[in-house]
Amino acid sequence: MGTTWIVLWCACLLVCVHALAPTIKLNDGRETPLIAFGTWLGNSSQGRVKPQYNETEQAVLWAIDAGYRHVDTAMIYMVEDQVGRAINAKIDQGVITREDIFVTTKLWNDQHARDAVVPALRASLARLNLDYVDLYLIHWPVGQFANGTFDSTDYLDTWRGMVEAKQLGLTRSIGVSNFNQHMLDRILNSGLERPAVNQIEINLNLQQPKLLEYCKQQNITVMAYTPFGSLFPTKATPDAPPPRVDDPVLVEMAGRYNKTVPQVALRYLIELGVIPIPKSLTKSRIEQNFQVFDFTLKEQDKDVLKKYDTGYRTVLQLKWFDHPYYPFEKDHTNANTPRV
Ligand SMILES: NC(=O)c1ccc[n+]([C@@H]2O[C@H](COP(=O)([O-])OP(=O)(O)OC[C@H]3O[C@@H](n4cnc5c(N)ncnc54)[C@H](OP(=O)(O)O)[C@@H]3O)[C@@H](O)[C@H]2O)c1
Repeated sequence: MGTTWIVLWCACLLVCVHALAPTIKLNDGRETPLIAFGTWLGNSSQGRVKPQYNETEQAVLWAIDAGYRHVDTAMIYMVEDQVGRAINAKIDQGVITREDIFVTTKLWNDQHARDAVVPALRASLARLNLDYVDLYLIHWPVGQFANGTFDSTDYLDTWRGMVEAKQLGLTRSIGVSNFNQHMLDRILNSGLERPAVNQIEINLNLQQPKLLEYCKQQNITVMAYTPFGSLFPTKATPDAPPPRVDDPVLVEMAGRYNKTVPQVALRYLIELGVIPIPKSLTKSRIEQNFQVFDFTLKEQDKDVLKKYDTGYRTVLQLKWFDHPYYPFEKDHTNANTPRV
C-alpha cells in the first residue's frame, strides 16, 4: 500500500510539476510572467464571437496545468466569469494560490469617464469572483457611448480614474492598450503615475520597432497581442502578407530547433523583449505555445524574421477611424480592407 502511494505521488509530481515561465519586473516593482494566455474569442462576419459553452473556462484550466501563470482577459470578451471560475477552481484544488497567478483585465470604451472606472473594475471583479486584479488596462484610448457614438473624453481623465482604482487596491498595476507614442507621452508628461504596460499588436508582420524602443526607454513593458498575426490561413485575410505557417523558410528554421513554426514566432517576440499573449482553445496548442523557454534563436534567424515586418495591422478598428483619439497611422495602405 505504502509503495503504491509513493508511486502515485511521484507520478502526480511528474504531471503537476513543470517549469514556469521566467518573469520580468514592471516599472512599479511587480513581477509578471513572460507569457500570458489570451482569452478573446475573436470576431466572425456576425461581429464578436460570443461564448457558446464553458470553452474558455476549460482552456484556462488547461493553460494553468500547462504552466501559464498570466491570463489576459477583458470585459468586452464576455468571458471574465469563465476565467474567474477556472482560476478559483485551481486555487480551491491547491494547484495555485491567488498570488501565483497574474490576472489582467481591461476597461471598455463606454466607461471612460473618470468616475466610471472604479465601478467598471468592481463589476469585472464581481464577474471574475476575485478581490483584485494584477493589471487593469484602458483597452483603447477611444471612448464610445453605449450606443456606439463617439465619446471624446480625454484618456488623461480616464487615467486619473485608473490611478484611483489602484489606490483603492482593486488592481495592483495599471496600464494602457493600443496607445501610440504621443498618447503615452501625454500621460508621462501629466505628472500622473506612469503606465506599467502598453498592450499592442506585435507579430511577424507588425514588429513596431520605434514604439518598442520608446517603451523600453520609458521602462513601460509591452504585451504583444495577436502574436501569430496572419500565420494561420484560417485567420489571414486575402491581402495579408506572408508568412503562413507552412512557409518553407520558417518550417526549415523551426526544424533546426526541433520546434514548431508557432513556437518560433512566439520565441522571436520574447527575444524582442515583449510578452506574447497567445490564445488557443485547443489543449495541445495551449501546451505547445508555452514550450518556448528552452531555446534561443540565432542572430541570423532573427534577421530573417525581422524582414517579415511590413507594418501590416491585423486589428485596425476602422469604425473608429474618425475618432479624435484613433491611435493608428491614418495613411495605412491597407486601411481599405474591412477588418476588425
Ligand atoms: N488589447 C487588445 O486590443 C487586444 C486585441 C486583440 C487580442 N488581444 C489579446 O491577445 C490575445 C491573442 O490575440 P488573438 O486572439 O487575436 O490571436 P492569436 O493568439 O494570435 O491567434 C489565435 C488563433 O491562433 C490559433 N492558434 C493558437 N496557437 C496555435 C498553434 N500552436 N497552432 C495553430 N493554431 C494556433 C487559435 O486557434 P484555436 O483557438 O482554435 O486553437 C486561434 O485561431 C487575445 O486572446 C486577447 O487576450 C488584445
